Amino acid sequence: MTREPFGTTARGEAISVYTLRNARGTELRVLDYGGIIVSLKIADRNGRLDDVVLGYDSLAGYERGSSYFGAIIGRYGNRIAKGRFTLDGRTYVLARNNGPNHLHGGRNGFDRAVWGVAPFERPDSVGLVFRYTSRDGEEGYPGTLQATVTYTLTNRNELIFDYHASADKATPVNLTQHSYFNLAGDGTRDILDHVVTLNADRFTPVDSTLIPTGEIKSVQGTPFDFRTPTPIGARIDRDDAQLRFGRGYDHNFVLNKAGERGPTLAARVYEPASGRVMQIYTTEPGMQFYSGNFLDGTARGKHGVAYRHRYGFAMETQHYPDSPNEPGFPSTILHPGEEYRSRTIYTFAVQP
Ligand code: BGC
Repeated sequence: MTREPFGTTARGEAISVYTLRNARGTELRVLDYGGIIVSLKIADRNGRLDDVVLGYDSLAGYERGSSYFGAIIGRYGNRIAKGRFTLDGRTYVLARNNGPNHLHGGRNGFDRAVWGVAPFERPDSVGLVFRYTSRDGEEGYPGTLQATVTYTLTNRNELIFDYHASADKATPVNLTQHSYFNLAGDGTRDILDHVVTLNADRFTPVDSTLIPTGEIKSVQGTPFDFRTPTPIGARIDRDDAQLRFGRGYDHNFVLNKAGERGPTLAARVYEPASGRVMQIYTTEPGMQFYSGNFLDGTARGKHGVAYRHRYGFAMETQHYPDSPNEPGFPSTILHPGEEYRSRTIYTFAVQP
């Protein structure tokens, strides 16, 4: 493991990049700014290492960007309608940083925070523990929140995210990781050939501003049915109101659970040209599958690559969007004395 300077923020903070490697040669580079994964180099079926995540070459790219490439998202992943919610009789007002809605924790979410980092090395893994204290009233949220996120890269090519939080007042919490993947490597073409399987019989339809309507709908007979392996591009441009609202996939899938306590399979993604396979396991009840519809080639990514429409996808394990305003959704409220715990595992392998 090494630690090197990565730049200085506009606020004057010195930012470091940590480079981690496992016994298989997988290389992960991460910033203390936002816990951002700047690169992840994984072997293809011929043993060739390619970078499978989108990002920028410089810190300024991340500071200017609005795509949340690679970052920890908090205090609340995805949208809260009109930037408002009521808790214990009090209404809280949050930034409207996405049309009429609040997105990914606001203007200065956890993705822009400088986290304390403690590296660790174990016989079978290497990792980083990130710590951040979000102050009472930050971005409009109630209570001081102590957040800890641990990234572990194992010698079995698993990347494990463990989230932990506690608060001194009741507050919504919904932490996730916002890496964009292109398993073909280097983000130089679209992700429409990636073959996706989702362990989800249902999803949460949205309105035109991407806020869930409250309905939990069967995927049966819709372009949202990924229960058998299907290329992302197979149905993405169908004339379907939900696809129009998202300009493609930008929806929360309700993961099938059978009462298990530990992480369960959420998704499998296979990229035919490289043979790379990524699987996602999580303790969370939902996952946002975002097919990079708002990427438009204007932001220059790593090595000057223009990330065009659908050049990367994100799979954000989470509680459902807008849960603080939807009593029928699993609760996202953390009370004092309780512990927020969540675990997501990405596994990487190859298929002939
Ligand atoms: C959201 C998208 C948004 C993207 C980047 C995703 O989690 O669902 O609507 O454009 O993040 O901001």
